[in-house]
Amino acid sequence: MADTTVMDKLVSLCKRRGFVFQSSEIYGGLGSVWDYGPLGVELKRNVKERWWRSMVHERDDIEGLDAAILMHPRVWEASGHVSGFTDPLVDCRQCKNRFRADDPRLKGTPGQPDAQCPVCGSRGTLTEPRLFNLMFKTFMGPVEEQAAVIYLRPETAQGIYVNYLNVLQGSRQRVPFGIAQVGKAFRNEITPGNFIFRTREFEQMEMQFFVKPGTDAEWFERWREWRMGWHHALGLSPAKLRWHEHGAGELAHYARAAYDIEYEFPFGWNEIEGIHNRGDFDLGRHQEHSGKKLEYFDQAANERYLPLIVETSAGADRVTLTVLVDAYREEQVEGETRVVLGFHPGVAPIKAAVLPLVKKDGMPELARRVYDDLRRRFKCFYDDSGAIGRRYRRMDEAGTPFCITIDGDTTTAQTVTVRHRDSMAQDRVGLDALAEFVARGVAG
Ligand code: GAP
Repeated sequence: MADTTVMDKLVSLCKRRGFVFQSSEIYGGLGSVWDYGPLGVELKRNVKERWWRSMVHERDDIEGLDAAILMHPRVWEASGHVSGFTDPLVDCRQCKNRFRADDPRLKGTPGQPDAQCPVCGSRGTLTEPRLFNLMFKTFMGPVEEQAAVIYLRPETAQGIYVNYLNVLQGSRQRVPFGIAQVGKAFRNEITPGNFIFRTREFEQMEMQFFVKPGTDAEWFERWREWRMGWHHALGLSPAKLRWHEHGAGELAHYARAAYDIEYEFPFGWNEIEGIHNRGDFDLGRHQEHSGKKLEYFDQAANERYLPLIVETSAGADRVTLTVLVDAYREEQVEGETRVVLGFHPGVAPIKAAVLPLVKKDGMPELARRVYDDLRRRFKCFYDDSGAIGRRYRRMDEAGTPFCITIDGDTTTAQTVTVRHRDSMAQDRVGLDALAEFVARGVAG
């Protein structure tokens, strides 16, 4: 299968089965903004919940936070986003299209008569590159004037830095410790695309770890190892994951060292998470711009210092896309193509489908009772329409790990058939052991 075909098929499956829809589709869609449908919202929630569990619930040294999207505009001056979060752009005066200055489709030198617009083909209509800020602006209060400008946050990290002392005091943590947050971020991306890979509204799962100066390199290595381990535990193919180290020319203004975790998408190797050694940049800048002391006092050692920060920053939508791409497969079964989303059962949107074999002989009633029992613990689906083979296929496409069929033996022997998504093998399981059987299958 050609790589472009895989993405086309996945995008179409996502629409058809209710994973992801284009935003405002009935109005022609809004560029690079997407909505999650019934299956997509479950999948993305499961990704975020796994991240939260591993970062916050399973550790003693990380606290959670949910900071507001809107922040004081001076936050973005301190962070460097007002002056530095820019892309050089070129406009075509003829067709009004806008391009990144490094767009390989541009011919000639923008601003010169020989330059040619890649969309309308006009010559000499391209402007010289101009810096364009990627933050979305809006106004706070009733007056739309410069003094009222605020921004939609382009990353969640700043909400963590400005709350670091509040969390430290309220939680009685000591350095080294971390703060984790999941939330929306907005970037007016100029070249968004590849479905939900690069969008203008997205969610980040970010954790900032505050450490004593001199220990940052060590924590940086630990966090690299833990984060790669998390992606492996999510069930992503290890051969499709790799590290990319940022060279000197590539490092962001705040970073002392940075590595990306990259995944091999059908459209090439691309970043899904960044691990950054941010040094004292963030707390140093906020201390300077706010005038508030942000130092930490280590009582045991009787010393005062500004902690350094190791950051792990993943995109929830990007990881969700990775999970979808990695799970998608087609197989030939009895002369037919079987489409399967082979998710790790822990992230599968639906854990079990309950299917009465026929709509008679008390099977639907019994199936309903099984369904009502299981749905108290797992996201389940009830389906009594169509041939059983068709119902299995529908669940394969949704990535449901278990199909539970209620048949004639269920009433007599109190057992059901559990059909496994990946192997299509079937087990006979007692009704009294069913919930535990599913629980074991979706754990981990
Ligand atoms: N606080 C650091 C930071 O924001 P980043 O490399 O700009 O670093 C981190 O972003 C992660 O956020 C990326 O690895 C990616 O997963 C996600 N991300 C960034 N821009 C995105 C976009 N336009 N659409 C979807 N996800 C995005």
